[in-house]
Amino acid sequence: MNILIVNGPNLNFLGLREPEIYGKKSYNDLVNFLLAYGNMNRVEIEVYQSNCEGEIINIIQNNYQRFDALIINPAAYTHYSYAIYDCIKSINIPTVEVHLSDIYKRESFRKISVIEPACVSKFYGKGFNSYIEAINFLRKRK
Ligand code: DQA
Repeated sequence: MNILIVNGPNLNFLGLREPEIYGKKSYNDLVNFLLAYGNMNRVEIEVYQSNCEGEIINIIQNNYQRFDALIINPAAYTHYSYAIYDCIKSINIPTVEVHLSDIYKRESFRKISVIEPACVSKFYGKGFNSYIEAINFLRKRK
C-alpha cells in the first residue's frame, strides 16, 4: 500500500512553534518518523508540506493518482478551507484527517473542521502518533 501525506501551514515550524502544544520535535523528526514507520510496515509513504492553500491543492491533484490513500493535516486550513474540502471531494482515494493536538480542547474555532465531511476518519491529540493511527486505520481498511 502507498500513502500520500500532506501537511499544511506552520507545521514546518514544529519544535519552534508552541512546544507546549506541539512538542519539541522538529518537522524533519516527524517526516523521518513517518518514513521509518512506513519502511518497517511495508507502506510506501511520501510526505509533503506547504504553507499555501493553492500549493496544497496542487500537491494533491498532481500526486493522488499514484496513491491508495491520502492523510492530511491541513493545520489552520482545517477550520475554513472549502477549497481543500472540494479538492478532497474530487479525488477517488480515501482521505483521513489528522491533527497533532486535541483540537476539541483548544479555542472554539478549532472545534469546526470543514474538511471532516470529505474524510473517512479523523485522528487527533496523539502528537506524531495521530499519523500512525491514521496509517493503521488505512492498512486495516484496505
Ligand atoms: C493542527 C491544529 C490546527 O488547529 C492548527 O491550526 C495547526 C495544527 C494540529 O496538528 O494540531 O496548525 O492541525
